[in-house]
Amino acid sequence: MSTTPLRYAVFGAGGIATVHLDMIATQPGVTLVGLCDPADPSTWRIQKQYADAPRFTDPATMLRETKPDLVSVCTPNKFHAELSLLALQHGAHVACEKPMAMNMAEAEAMETARAQAGKLGLINFSYRNVASFRFAREIVARGELGRLLRVNCVYLQSFLGAPAQPYAWRNDVSIAGFGALGDLGVHMLDGVRFITGLEYERVVGLAQILIPEKKDAAGKTHRVTTDTNAAWLSELSGGVIANFETSQVAPGYGNYFRIELSGEHGTLVVQSDTPDDLWLHAGASLTRYATWKTDLPKQAVPTEFFRNLKPTTPAGIVRAIRGEAEDFPTFADGVRAQRMLDAIGQSMQSQAWVTLG
Ligand SMILES: NC(=O)c1ccc[n+]([C@@H]2O[C@H](COP(=O)([O-])OP(=O)(O)OC[C@H]3O[C@@H](n4cnc5c(N)ncnc54)[C@H](O)[C@@H]3O)[C@@H](O)[C@H]2O)c1
Repeated sequence: MSTTPLRYAVFGAGGIATVHLDMIATQPGVTLVGLCDPADPSTWRIQKQYADAPRFTDPATMLRETKPDLVSVCTPNKFHAELSLLALQHGAHVACEKPMAMNMAEAEAMETARAQAGKLGLINFSYRNVASFRFAREIVARGELGRLLRVNCVYLQSFLGAPAQPYAWRNDVSIAGFGALGDLGVHMLDGVRFITGLEYERVVGLAQILIPEKKDAAGKTHRVTTDTNAAWLSELSGGVIANFETSQVAPGYGNYFRIELSGEHGTLVVQSDTPDDLWLHAGASLTRYATWKTDLPKQAVPTEFFRNLKPTTPAGIVRAIRGEAEDFPTFADGVRAQRMLDAIGQSMQSQAWVTLG
């Protein structure tokens, strides 16, 4: 494995930056050359071992002075496009958080700039690395379920409903762009596409704001302008019907992301809560007979499959920069998901189906 020296910098020093740093900055040959965040460093949430890296508040200054080969964009959504474009202009590869951008135009501009710069772009669709999701993808790709017939996907959380959860940038549409749709829905859109290998053809959707206001940490009340829950129905290539529901205000649900699909020879379920198991009732002979009770058998992802599983997604771009064949979620995948987010928004406006180009 190559360990070509790589200079690495990060925009945003909050919660998800810790994941990027642990995945990327720890790799052999990678040097952390800068961290950029306009907030007071006492509020930064990065791990101690990275705290000595040069600190910046101005993005262009960091890029000019540190000349990174790779930059992670770990800021609120509003800044993803602007900072990714700046990093590409300065000759860096980019690992950007999801959702890719605030809208389709921004996402397309990012992918165009990336292609023109001849650099790699990753969007951190982190569930792509869950063992059961990858194993499910392999089962589908091998045709073991036969022709796909239906998809059902839910992603439910409760945190936003809790009064103890203070108002944050995630509740402001001018900074987050979306609520549950952009935070959770984008993982659902990519996860279903990743496992089934199918593309979205058309969609009709609805979203709501069920919590009108929230108090911030200082006790000041703010209006919530992002969707707290959403549902959409879509048709995938080949006429497969897929339905989706997401919520950040479903009491009792911590982080429950579940994808269920049936093909003519079986039904398969994966869940984020149990990343090493899946539920599978499959086999052409078995499924010739009707089943009269619901008892999808639980199966452990085979041990050997884990041995072949590479470290989580942000790390994939390092290997790809070093010329290794690598399977990671790209800017093009981000554009696909963004196109669906825009289409769901259009459908809500028009109250009609929207066909994807
Ligand atoms: N892939 C995943 O599963 C996953 C999980 C959590 C968060 N995320 C994404 O990561 C991003 C950040 O979320 P978070 O939870 O880390 O948020 P956070 O609020 O914990 O941290 C964001 C940080 O960015 C900083 N910041 C704001 N504007 C900036 C700018 N212009 N330049 C540099 N830094 C800036 C803030 O000061 C803050 O320190 C979001 O896009 C979110 O959707 C993805």
